[in-house]
Amino acid sequence: MEKRRSFGIMPDGKAAEEVTLRAGELSCSILTYGGAVRTLRVPDQNGRPTDVVLGFDSLEDYIRQDKYIGALIGRYANRIGGASFPLNGVEYPLRANDGPNHLHGGPMGFDKQLWTVEALTENTLVLTLTSPDGQEGYPGKLDIKVTYTLTECGLEIDYEAKSDRDTLCNLTNHSYFNLSGHDSGSISDQQIQVFADRYTPTGPGSIPTGELAPVEGTPMDLRVPTPIGDHVDDGFDQLTLAGGYDHNWVIKGWDGTLRPAARAWSPRTGITLEVLTTLPGIQFYSGNYLDGCPAGKGGAPYAKRWGFCLETQFFPDSPHHPAFPSSVLKKDTVYHQKTYYRFQ
Ligand code: BGC
Repeated sequence: MEKRRSFGIMPDGKAAEEVTLRAGELSCSILTYGGAVRTLRVPDQNGRPTDVVLGFDSLEDYIRQDKYIGALIGRYANRIGGASFPLNGVEYPLRANDGPNHLHGGPMGFDKQLWTVEALTENTLVLTLTSPDGQEGYPGKLDIKVTYTLTECGLEIDYEAKSDRDTLCNLTNHSYFNLSGHDSGSISDQQIQVFADRYTPTGPGSIPTGELAPVEGTPMDLRVPTPIGDHVDDGFDQLTLAGGYDHNWVIKGWDGTLRPAARAWSPRTGITLEVLTTLPGIQFYSGNYLDGCPAGKGGAPYAKRWGFCLETQFFPDSPHHPAFPSSVLKKDTVYHQKTYYRFQ
C-alpha cells in the first residue's frame, strides 16, 4: 500500500488525501478530511491483522455521514448547552446543531475541514489547521497541530493549540472501535472497564446537570470489566434518556499526566484496547445512534451498537459549570494534551 494517496475531491475543488502509517505489526490510515482515522489494523490472538475502527471507502460517504466516524473533534468535544457560553464577562453565541445545543464544534467543526500534512515519516503524521477568529462563534484565531504516532503497541494522538485571544479548546478523536473487527457486528459481548468512581449525569438534550454522581450501585459502575450488553438497556433513567451509554466519566486521579482511563476487550479476537490520557474525562458512547447509513468499508452495515467510542475530553458543557475542570485556553498559552490507544 502506498504511503500517501489521493482520497477524492472536496466540493470546493480541494484534494483530500489518505496517509498510511506503519509500526511493527500495526498499520493505520488517516485522512486529511477531518483528520479521521480510517483504518487501524492490529493483530488478533492468532496474529491475524484485524481492522478495529469503523470507516468508509469514499470521501463522499465521509461527507454524507453524520456520526463523526473516526474524526478529530474541535473546537469543543461534545455539547455546550444553549449553544452559547460566557467568557470574561461576554456571552459568545455558537452555531446550534443538536436541537438548541452546540455539538462537537458545530455544523462546520474540525471534523468537516481539510487539514494540512505538515510532516510525515514511516510512523508519524503531523496535521495542522488554522481556525479563524469567530469560526462557529468561537473567539480567537486558533492554530492547531495534531501529531499521530503509531507505535508497535498502538496509536498516540498529541494535540497542541494556541489562540490569539482567550477562547475554549477541547479536542478529541471520535473513532468507533469494534475489537472483533469493524464489520463483525454488535459490540455487546465486548467488555468495557472505565477507571472512574463518578460520572456526570445529564438532563434534557444530554446536557450535564453539573452533578458528579457516584457510579456505585448503578449500571454506570464499570470499574470491573463488564460486557457492554449486560446493562446497556437497563431501566436506569440515565441510560433510557440516552438510549444506552453516552456519558462522561470522571477519570480517577486526574493530574494532567498520561493515565489509564478505560480498557476494552473482545472475547472473539482476544484484542485488548487500553486508553490513556492527560485529560480529566472520557465519554463512553455505545454507538446507540448508528443506523447503517451510509454503508461502511466493504459495504459493512454499521447498525446500532456496531462500534463504541472512548472520547477523552474536558467535561461536556464545562463553560456552564465552574466546578468542572476549565476548558478555557488563555491567549498565547499552549493547549497540550495527549491520548494513547494501546493494544495488547
Ligand atoms: C455524543 C453522542 C452523539 C455522538 C455523535 C457522541 O460523542 O456523546 O451523544 O450522538 O457523539 O454521533
